[in-house]
Amino acid sequence: MTDVAELLGSLRVPVVGAPMAGAAGGRLAAAITAAGGLGMVGVGNVATVEQITPELEIACAGGVFGVGLMCWSLPDNPALLDVTLAHAPSVISLSFGDPRPYLDRVHDAGIAVVAQVGTRAEAVDVVDAGVDAVVVRGDEGGGHGRGVVATLPLLQQILDITDKPVLAAGGIATARGLAAVLAAGASGAWVGTPFAASEESLFKDSAKQAVIAADTDQTVYTRAFDVAQRFNWPTIYGGRALANDFTSQWVDRVSELEADVPDELTAAMKEARAQGNTAMAPVYAGESAGLVTQMRTAGEVIESFAGFREHLRAAQRWL
Ligand SMILES: Cc1cc2nc3c(=O)[nH]c(=O)nc-3n(C[C@H](O)[C@H](O)[C@H](O)COP(=O)(O)O)c2cc1C
Repeated sequence: MTDVAELLGSLRVPVVGAPMAGAAGGRLAAAITAAGGLGMVGVGNVATVEQITPELEIACAGGVFGVGLMCWSLPDNPALLDVTLAHAPSVISLSFGDPRPYLDRVHDAGIAVVAQVGTRAEAVDVVDAGVDAVVVRGDEGGGHGRGVVATLPLLQQILDITDKPVLAAGGIATARGLAAVLAAGASGAWVGTPFAASEESLFKDSAKQAVIAADTDQTVYTRAFDVAQRFNWPTIYGGRALANDFTSQWVDRVSELEADVPDELTAAMKEARAQGNTAMAPVYAGESAGLVTQMRTAGEVIESFAGFREHLRAAQRWL
């Protein structure tokens, strides 16, 4: 079975490219691994085996990789786990729901399990379930998660309650941020937003440019996009996305939307996504969008983290 601590310790730069549905396909995962991090493929709630198979093949050909699954959506599409296991990743993330129904099967295949958590109670629960590492994901992170506790308070709390490797996620986009979480005791950072805007990401170009243009205060955590699209995400999860015309109109009126989603709105959202219309469609990204200021390759993003040692050295003046 993959030893997560050993795997993370073997990386040139302790950065895991977060599994991101719609952004992290095989090409991005392979590029992150090639640059010295650990790449992961994101498998979303509306993914199909046909869509995901080529992505897994590309990631697989690139060396060590991981895959992120969404527990709540697996009962409707169990083949996504089958196809993932068939490609033998080193790590599978079982997030957004109870990992227990899938844990033994993944472990029996020799694959390590990690889970993202957004509260102390969730961390206690997944450690109890038997995951091999915990990803502490704060509210400032991009994409779906809990919108309740920020990365740093949650990280400090969880590091005190488990001996398992802990990865920090949410808002980490520079060598300074990486040094900070490593100094706190994390085994590495789990990074999404900077890679979502990178050259190898599956994001449409308009979405990448929108992330690059956005500042740290221009994101919003909301369920409005999921409700408008009639996605059955459990209600405890929202997503952090760039603020846009749609969020200005609906963020404070989600219950109204839930009571009656106009068919035209669902259709308009589908169209906006297909067209890459960032004024209407979700561009999932976290507060660290404000730290992403130019188009880079995934390798350049990894390289931008590589200076973390200098920051750790500078902090040694306190020793
Ligand atoms: C565009 C995008 C898509 C995401 N999709 C997924 C996903 O499919 N599965 C998952 O476990 N997490 C997903 N996430 C959340 C990431 O795993 C991670 O928690 C987050 O990106 C960390 O915060 P950061 O964006 O500030 O680096 C997504 C994040 C983004 C930005």
